[in-house]
Amino acid sequence: MTISSPNAEYFPVPIDAIQSEGLGFDLYLMYEGCQAVLYRKSGASYSMCDCDELREKGITHFYVRNVQHQQFQRAVCEQACDAFEDESVVREKRTRIVRDSCGKMIENFMTSKRVDGISETLGMMAGKFGEWCNNDKSEFSYLLDMSEHDFYTTTHMVNVGVGCTLLGAELLGNDHEMVQVLSLGGLIHDIGKCGVPTDVLNKEGKLSDEEWGMIRKHPELGASILRAQKEVSPEIVDMTLNHHERLDGKGYPNGIRADEISFHARVCSVVDVYDALSSARPYRGPIAPRAVLDMMREDVGKAFDAKVFGAWERVVERMIEENPARAASGTQTPGMKLEAMIPSPIAQSRPENGYMTIRRGDGTGTSAEVVQTTLCEVILSADVRLDCSEQVELQPEDGAAMSAKYLSKRLGSRGETQLVFKLLTGNQAA
Ligand SMILES: [Fe+2]
Repeated sequence: MTISSPNAEYFPVPIDAIQSEGLGFDLYLMYEGCQAVLYRKSGASYSMCDCDELREKGITHFYVRNVQHQQFQRAVCEQACDAFEDESVVREKRTRIVRDSCGKMIENFMTSKRVDGISETLGMMAGKFGEWCNNDKSEFSYLLDMSEHDFYTTTHMVNVGVGCTLLGAELLGNDHEMVQVLSLGGLIHDIGKCGVPTDVLNKEGKLSDEEWGMIRKHPELGASILRAQKEVSPEIVDMTLNHHERLDGKGYPNGIRADEISFHARVCSVVDVYDALSSARPYRGPIAPRAVLDMMREDVGKAFDAKVFGAWERVVERMIEENPARAASGTQTPGMKLEAMIPSPIAQSRPENGYMTIRRGDGTGTSAEVVQTTLCEVILSADVRLDCSEQVELQPEDGAAMSAKYLSKRLGSRGETQLVFKLLTGNQAA
């Protein structure tokens, strides 16, 4: 999302995105101040050795002409499908190739802002998702990244695509056509984020009202982009438009209520929130699968459809049963509430000095001096005393500093489910 083409006729492609014995498109390199230079002609081969060679020269991207956009997307898709079906390759590698390829296809649509052919190429991928899921649900489920991972728009979209396939199959059984619609809808549900500035999407700090307003426009923007593609089905446009709506009417963009929210949007909403909560954010670590389900359960009937959520619980529980290691992903302790996650305005303002107030739900609390902030951590001065009914003394891990993550973990492990962290910085603290 951060790469932009220096030339409107071309779009950038990471050098490790493809390898092919017969390229279906030309590859170009661009050097500062120069025109595009042809690197490999269509029909030539490009291998990992070539990739290593380019990397050694400090080259990270080559360029493909916009007119060959669909050929490129098709090649990435075919590469991913071949990899997943190649049983001589270990599962970890196969799933990584498919996830990376899908992520690159989505990223490419978003950076190039060219979505013509999206339902053909990502539709091909969605078709494969449905087929793989139908053949072997357990094997397919490994495409859902349940490891501790950071939240990025494209990886999130891949996960939602995989999750919608699994949930669709759980709810609809043999209705393969509808499962495929859900897969594709999940893969592209956040396409409207291509219209949100990258620095707003990736901002580590608290969003301003204006920035939040930009984010809230992504469902409508996505729907209007897809509506312009006549091969995209109305159900997929609907998933894109309504995946942030809630049954109680408190969602966005239109605040529609239960009976106005389609089945497709309800499915997408459950998987979307599940993945968003399980991934790590700058202000908190990832949350373990069962803890995410516990948090979401409180919103059943308010945000989520009970039947759809119940089916998703079964899917997640089955995945954990099949591989108990999946249950251990996530660093937050079950029972922690959403409010008990340290917000991140401090990461945004990076004050040299500030105060962090750690409060219980009833408002009592104490403060600690912030001595340093880093990208993901708030480093506090030595001891922090919590003004709880039972006083808790938190000792820094290394005797000098303590991370926000560590704090959450320690407090959670004491069963303090109602703790609210509020960060006061600069003038606010004064
Ligand atoms: Fe979204």
